Amino acid sequence: MVRKTLAKRIFPPNQLSGEIAVPGDKSISHRAIMLGSLAIGNSTISNLSAGKDCFSTMNCLRALGVKFARQTNEHQTLHIHGAGIDSIVEAKNVLNAGNSGTTMRLLSGILATRPFLSVITGDASLRSRPMKRLIEPLRSMGADVCGRAEDSYAPLVIKGRKLRGIRYNLPIPSAQIKSAILLAGLFAEGETIIEQTLVSRDHTERMLKLMGANIEHDGIHLCLKPLTAPLKPVDIIVPGDVSSAAYWLVAGAIHPNARIKLRNCGTNPTRTGIVDVLVAMKAKLKIENQRNQANEPAADLVIESSQLEATELSGDIIPRLIDEIPVLAVAACKAHGTTIIRGAGELRVKESDRIATTVKELARLGARIEELPDGMAIHGSTVLSGAEVKSHRDHRLAMSLAIAGLVARGETIVCDAQVAEISYPDFWTQFERLAGH
Ligand code: S3P
Repeated sequence: MVRKTLAKRIFPPNQLSGEIAVPGDKSISHRAIMLGSLAIGNSTISNLSAGKDCFSTMNCLRALGVKFARQTNEHQTLHIHGAGIDSIVEAKNVLNAGNSGTTMRLLSGILATRPFLSVITGDASLRSRPMKRLIEPLRSMGADVCGRAEDSYAPLVIKGRKLRGIRYNLPIPSAQIKSAILLAGLFAEGETIIEQTLVSRDHTERMLKLMGANIEHDGIHLCLKPLTAPLKPVDIIVPGDVSSAAYWLVAGAIHPNARIKLRNCGTNPTRTGIVDVLVAMKAKLKIENQRNQANEPAADLVIESSQLEATELSGDIIPRLIDEIPVLAVAACKAHGTTIIRGAGELRVKESDRIATTVKELARLGARIEELPDGMAIHGSTVLSGAEVKSHRDHRLAMSLAIAGLVARGETIVCDAQVAEISYPDFWTQFERLAGH
């Protein structure tokens, strides 16, 4: 197979301005596809993320018997003909989650309850990401799941069976693991109780509630009763992805001549750490037109050129901006003072080791940045200089480096830039448009 690679050349524009709608939230889209498949009845999901990760979820579910109809119009609408849990049947082949941790982990929670064999794998990056954290709680619910290298990694082999609910203290603030347990708990015997030390994104809890499941959550405590009736189908418009908006929020804040409006952006408080931190760093960021959509808050965000101040981050803010740390490191390069990020060791097990790769690639642009075991220290007020940088086939790193290129002197080349399509297929088009190219 010939893989198409893109080396993207970037020159700093004189101005960054315009208005864009960021793509539908990836986390919410995965959940809408999965829960819509488990419901009985037709669900319509608009503004679905068109990222490759959500196609991985759709493709796996299609192989498991679910019927979808997709309209590739500007609304990115997906119709799901949900026929309930019993319509999920054994796949004839190995399931492929591609690059998507959310697909693999959440789907495993469902498959652990189905009376057949499933084998699920992914690309080289996903096959190197930790799976014991998923296997352990599912096993304590009675699941028969195992993985490569003594249960450390995918491929995973799952022989589904009847499970029992558990009381589980989640040792890491992972929404993927929490959600896998909840999805398994829907079809288990007895209630499932999860205690979290730090709050992670709560999209699964919100959507389960919207679809009629018996779930209570108050921040760190969660209690789910098994379904007594099938989930109800939904018609929803997915709010824009704040993790995608983050690139433009940072770009607008650090570029000297910028004003960008981001329409219809999700503002779920478990996800808006980036907004809170940029405001604390003195970004000129306005939140307008707040509303509720699909049991999720949304708003328009407006950002203007700002003189940022450094900050220190650790503790409960970290899960609220975990995916935004690479681009936040770019903001920190331009802020006044030294920014220190700690308690973010989870970054080492994302699509790449994002502490190592962010530090290495930003350093090529002249950033004064140091790796810490669980974070990084970034000295600000730095004049970045264009250079050739590598995405390490990590979508978030590719986009973060592109934003650095907008304020670096001379030419920046981002290698393997096509990887942005994992979460944001329109990224480069919108990039050109905002930069006035
Ligand atoms: C996600 C949860 C986070 C995040 C990932 C998407 C989700 O991972 O980094 O991009 O949709 O649940 P963890 O839950 O493993 O921290």
